[in-house]
Amino acid sequence: MDTELSYLQRKGAEYFIQETKRVIEQRHTALPMAYVHSFGCQQNQSDTEKIMGMLSAMGYGFTPTAENADLVLFNTCAIRENAETKILGNIGAIKQYKMANPNLVVCVCGCMVQQKHIVEKLQKSYGFVDIIFGTHALASFPELLYQKLAGLETKLVNVLDKTDDIVEGLPVHRQDALKAWLPIMYGCDNFCTYCVVPHVRGRERSRRPEDILAEVRQLVADGYREITLLGQNVNSYGKGLSPAINFSGLLRQIAEIPGEFRVRFMTSHPRDCTHELLDTIAAYDKLCIGIHLPVQSGSDRILQAMNRHYDTAHYLELVDYARKKIPGVMFTSDIIVGFPGETRAEFESTLELIRKVRFEKLFTFIFSPRPGTKAAEMEDPVPYSVKSGWLRELLEVQTDIVYDLYAQMIGHTFVVLAEAESKSKPGVLIGRTNTNVLMEFEGTKDLIGHFIPVKALKATKTAVIGQIIE
Ligand code: SAH
Ligand code: SF4
Ligand code: F3S
Repeated sequence: MDTELSYLQRKGAEYFIQETKRVIEQRHTALPMAYVHSFGCQQNQSDTEKIMGMLSAMGYGFTPTAENADLVLFNTCAIRENAETKILGNIGAIKQYKMANPNLVVCVCGCMVQQKHIVEKLQKSYGFVDIIFGTHALASFPELLYQKLAGLETKLVNVLDKTDDIVEGLPVHRQDALKAWLPIMYGCDNFCTYCVVPHVRGRERSRRPEDILAEVRQLVADGYREITLLGQNVNSYGKGLSPAINFSGLLRQIAEIPGEFRVRFMTSHPRDCTHELLDTIAAYDKLCIGIHLPVQSGSDRILQAMNRHYDTAHYLELVDYARKKIPGVMFTSDIIVGFPGETRAEFESTLELIRKVRFEKLFTFIFSPRPGTKAAEMEDPVPYSVKSGWLRELLEVQTDIVYDLYAQMIGHTFVVLAEAESKSKPGVLIGRTNTNVLMEFEGTKDLIGHFIPVKALKATKTAVIGQIIE
């Protein structure tokens, strides 16, 4: 059952989708085209699929370039300053198209516009932007577009400070036919001191298990082979739901759904990652054994300053436990280099942790101060050039580790989901193991979408070359 407000929001979206469709049919003889560009994390990609679902239901087709589009939409990310700078550059480049075609509708939504200073900036210096809506106002997009197209309003902004609701049932235009994103929760309550997400995505809200399970069943029936459950901290799934359920409980119910598919999830927070969760992963073949567990730093002082609520001993204990219970498990992680006040010795503790854990992949970032976060107020004496040097050092260590991990796979056979033909090598297929390692192997296109046993023959720095086992 929907809450009253989310029910009304869904009904409102449905109503304005139909109204906008009517206006578009009156105006356009040819199919109107939308150019949609999404930045940021998988959560944003998933929101973009809903926005595209609504656009498609309103009668839009999609074009890969902004030139000649009838509508341009940017779904934005605020995680680091360089992300914002790049996005503002992309938005700025649209002005020329708007000048050539005053009927072009320009929309900016997502995490960046949840920040007041960004909305002010867009209004002041990017006057050609017509519609601005925040992460809590996705379902209001059809209404905003209707008002714009019907000429009722010219400049429209809908950025809500917060929401307690989840609007179910919006149409989804999925970007892949085999792999699907499935958000199980929204928002984040953790307030890591460097992070803007809780400020732009609001408080944590979990979807009801019955809605999630119904979506999984539908995806499996539609032929999806890999489902990635999304949330900023999936391990705290279920807070506030009645009857009580936790993430492990949800995973068990999903893994028991019949069908040929596998399940990934991200992101796990080391504080809330439990032995119960690791035991659950061990118990079901459908649950993938590549676990993304962002550690951020190998220094306990820095972890505390980040407000992460765990130390390196806790992290290493989880990794050890997982390795005992889940044969072949691999870990991936996120690292921030140059948190305010980080010393050379503290950075070296991170290198040490990386050598101990041997991650299969690292997403590495130089600290970026975000307005409104605690870390942005902290003393930050280390120059950027030194931090970039540290990052280069870290990447060198990591490159060798990955090569070693891949080399150890040689001679073993892995179940790979064949995803596509290689763009550069005809006759070669690419796919991923359940640890999320990229494999390349000779095969025919009819194998795409199937789980195939592939024997590892050779390691490169980015993938493992293999051969199909009959
Ligand atoms: N919820 C997830 C990740 C969200 S953001 C988690 O808790 O792990 C993805 C990654 O961006 C983070 O893990 C962190 O490594 C990085 N990040 C977030 N804020 C940052 C900042 N201000 N500067 C640099 N990196 C940042
Ligand atoms: Fe940001 Fe921390 Fe929440 Fe992840 S857990 S989204 S890093 S505040
Ligand atoms: Fe960026 Fe928002 Fe995701 S800030 S990383 S798009 S939650």
